[in-house]
Amino acid sequence: MSAVEDTLIVVKPDGVKRGLVGEIIGRFERKGFAVKRVQMLTMSKPQAEEFYSVHNAKPFFGELVSFITSGPVVGVVMSGRDAVATVRRMVGATKSWEAAAGTIRGDFGLGLTDNCIHASDSTESFTKESAAFFGKTLG
Ligand code: CMP
Repeated sequence: MSAVEDTLIVVKPDGVKRGLVGEIIGRFERKGFAVKRVQMLTMSKPQAEEFYSVHNAKPFFGELVSFITSGPVVGVVMSGRDAVATVRRMVGATKSWEAAAGTIRGDFGLGLTDNCIHASDSTESFTKESAAFFGKTLG
């Protein structure tokens, strides 16, 4: 039996601009996840560099930081059974054009940097990304 755990999703600037916040959060609520925290903000450059620090040696890092700071994003902490893996299955493949129909990226875009949504890939990433996103007040 898989344990109940928390994970973080961030609706990216393209998802917010296109009015997909409700659709995206709603999918997770209908699946059965409990929404524990929601915040809209525009990330600063240092905050984005911290949030995406695992990618800081990648050639696309600059583009990634520039995009994620380009407008408001919505972070959502959700809780449920095997949340990290289950949420990532619902999010779909990173390259939206390859993402399976029925997943969020598969249903709502064709982008790579602009792929609607980010989701933590481990509980360690959840802890680190939540601290970068919400600051030290997570609780
Ligand atoms: P995300 O799940 O937010 O995690 C890191 C992001 O980097 C990923 O989604 C993509 O938006 C982005 N990304 C991954 N690979 C590339 C790439 N080759 N070029 C540009 N962006 C990328």
